[in-house]
This record gives sequence, C-alpha cells and structure tokens, in this order.
Amino acid sequence: MFRRKTMITVLATGMLLSSGVVYAQTNSAPNVHADTAFDNKVIKKISAENMYNTIKYLSAVPREAGTEGEVRGVEYIEGQFKSLGLETRRIPFPIYDYKTNRQLAEVDGVDLSGRAFSGSGSGKVTAELVDVGLAKDVQVDLSGKIALVARGEITFVQKVRNVVAKGAVGVLMYNSSPTGNNFGQAEGQVPAVAITRAQGLDLVEKLKNGPVSATLDVEIQTIEKTSYVVEAKLKPNKNKDTGQIVTIGAHHDSVPNGPGANDDASGVSAVLELARIFANTPIDTEVRFLTFGSEERGMMGSSYYVSQLPKSDIDRMVAHFQMDMIGGAEAGEDHPLGGLIMYTIDGHKNLVTDLGASASSRMYDVAVPYGQLGRSDHQPFHDVGIPSALFIHSPVEPQYHKPTDTLEHISKEKLQQAASIVGASAYQIVRPDTPALDRAHVSPTSVDYDFENRPVD
Ligand code: BES
Ligand code: ZN
Repeated sequence: MFRRKTMITVLATGMLLSSGVVYAQTNSAPNVHADTAFDNKVIKKISAENMYNTIKYLSAVPREAGTEGEVRGVEYIEGQFKSLGLETRRIPFPIYDYKTNRQLAEVDGVDLSGRAFSGSGSGKVTAELVDVGLAKDVQVDLSGKIALVARGEITFVQKVRNVVAKGAVGVLMYNSSPTGNNFGQAEGQVPAVAITRAQGLDLVEKLKNGPVSATLDVEIQTIEKTSYVVEAKLKPNKNKDTGQIVTIGAHHDSVPNGPGANDDASGVSAVLELARIFANTPIDTEVRFLTFGSEERGMMGSSYYVSQLPKSDIDRMVAHFQMDMIGGAEAGEDHPLGGLIMYTIDGHKNLVTDLGASASSRMYDVAVPYGQLGRSDHQPFHDVGIPSALFIHSPVEPQYHKPTDTLEHISKEKLQQAASIVGASAYQIVRPDTPALDRAHVSPTSVDYDFENRPVD
C-alpha cells in the first residue's frame, strides 16, 4: 500500500519536471480567481432540490435491466433531455436471461439430482464417462465421451474448455468439498452438470472396474430482453467548436428489487441537472449526457454504447465523468468531502482527475483524492483510451444493493457537492474561452492531490 503511493508520487514528480507544469497550491495559481468566476456560472445554478426530486421519482420503482421499471426510468430521463431541447436517442441493446427447464444427470438409470451449470449447453447425450481429474492438462482423447471432472484449482470455464478441446460431448463435475454449492460456469458448448463430491468419488471408483455410461439431458431456455442507453447530445455553437466531446454519465438501472436511490439514481439526477445547466450556457465543445442500463449486469450498457461509437467519435472524446453513488448520507464516514473520491481504472491520474481535484480545491479548499477501482461504467471508456474517472463516496453506505437504498438515506449536501465538482470540472473543458485539449493534458491549475488505497465496501 505504502510502496504504491510512493511510486505514484515519484511518477507525478517526474511528470512535473519533464512537462514543466507547476502544481501550484490553489491560492497561488495565477488564474484561480478567473476559474472561480467560471465555476460560479455552473455551480450557482445547481439545485439539489431538482436532483432530490429526480431520485424520488426514479427510486419509487426498482429499475432492474430489462424490466418495465427500467423502461419507466428511461422514459423519464428521455423526457427530461427532450424538454431541454437536446438531441436525444434511446439506444436499445439485447440482454439475455437463462432459464433451466431440464437438468438431468443419470448413471445406470439412477438420477443424481445434478444441477446444470449456468451457461451449460442444451442437449441430451448418452456416453461413456472418462475420469479426467481436475482437467488442468487433459492428454486423453475424449471424442464422444462425457468428462468426469473434479472441482478445484482452475475455473469452471477453463475446465469445460479443456475437455471440449479434447472432444468431450458432456461434462459431469463433482464438488471439492463434501457440502456446498457446486454451481459452475460454462460457455454453452456442451451439457454440463454438477453433482456432489460423494457421488463423484463413487463414480471414480466405479470406473476402475470397467466402463460406466452416463446420460446428461439439459435444456436451457434463452430469454432475450431489451435494455437501453439514453444519449443526449448538446452541440456547441457552430462558429466556435473545438470538435471535441466530453461525456458525463451514470447508470439508470438498479439491482433486482432494489430502489437504487443512491445506486445510481443519484448519478442520474446529477447528469440531468448538469444537462439542464449546460443547455443554457454557451459552450465550444460537444457534451454528451449518458445514462446506461445493465451496469449491474457487468457494465453492459456502457460497453454497448462504446462498441457502437464510430472511431471518429472515440478519437474526439477527451474526458468521461462517471457518477455512481454520489448522495449516500452514511457513505464515506470520517473522510473529507463526505468521502468523495475519484477512481481510475489504472490507478493513475488523468485529465478528469486533475480537473476534479482542482475544482474541489477552488470550491471547498480540499482536493478530492484518487484511487484505483473499476466496478462502474468508466471502464469501457478507459478501455478505448478516453481519460475517465468514477466519482463516488467511499466507503459505500450500509444500504448498498439493499432494499434500504432509499430516498431517506440521500444527502442533498452531498448531491450538491459532487455535482458541483463534476460540473465545474467539465465546464473547464467546454467553456468557450479554453483551447482544445489533448488527452494527456495536465491542467495548469492542477493542485497536488493524493492516491488513496481506501476500502470501498
Ligand atoms: N455502484 C456500484 C459500484 C461500486 C460499489 C463501487 C461499491 C464501489 C463500491 C455498481 O453499481 C456495482 O454494484 N457494480 C458491480 C460490478 C458490476 C460490473 C456488476 C459491483 O461492484 O459488484
Ligand atoms: Zn452503481
């Protein structure tokens, strides 16, 4: 932990020397007063009341991806963007649920009450069993055979891959501990069923006395659903356009049956509030306000959004600001700024964190620290080379992913503060008097700010 922090400091110092950029303290930075005046153009207009009302509406119904609740939220968000006159699009993408209709594993006519792997293939096979142990390094030919596999040491997915590569037409896997859930993961190649350790060891013994035939019969039904990304474009004045794009995002889906007031109706409320303010402010850089579905399923909305962007858009994107859980009253206990922190995927500072730290020192005399974490929609943006950070309070509140993630645990002060820092940071790029940036740009008003290895939950 300590070593890492030291390394970052050294790196930052190196950057400072080689680029000649001075990390001045806020008060001695030459244009801090001008910047404060610019900050005020945005932050004086931010209404925590508006944000609170958005959260109230959105958290009244769970917004699990692919449900009516998501659509209700999406319609609201879309309506707000449209009422601001933004070029608004609802971008659908498919998500898949899997339902197990049949999961039979039978040896000598005896049903083993097995459980199909999640991601098992469908089909019925009857074949000879072959004991392949842990299936780490499979040498035998398994063509037309069912592999009997022991759990442990390597992933379920890898085990299935290894035996399928040798021709196996099915997988029967037994647990590594006498009890417990033996629910493996596969990629749909062949029927794959899990059984208990006792049953597995029994079969290993049986196989020593001669061939054993097994039947696997699995039917997995794929249910396709639709989730959405909402995109609202705010175009700059045609006569003054840097050609660059700044994105400000949050995820609108919640966990199943969760009200998701803080996770992440709070982030959405800030996206809508900043859209309202920027829509009435002259800018020279396009701003895209984005809300993503299916973040809780593995950032599927943001991944889809980035994947469908033309390369020419990606090349023009200079900063992605992600807000996720920015209103938790009980989050970030004992830390300055209510625990606000900026997480990057690689644990390094970037344009977004530089702007965030500078803005917060101007406004609150404290630089937001940064740390390293994925777990939200900044990941796919980072993956294509866009400077990105997640703004969040950590450690997260006890209501995280619980039915108690409700409006009453939301702090208006925290909403106001996080939206102000992100809004003022983005405005530094998009206000008409600043030149176009390059992505590696270090803000000349940057302050010194620290890496923190802070627990998140
Ligand atoms: N808002 C959380 C991310 C989060 C939670 C960050 C706690 C830091 C601390 C997000 O919605 C979430 O729950 N993400 C998932 C990962 C996702 C890829 C399924 C998570 O962290 O489990
Ligand atoms: Zn979240």
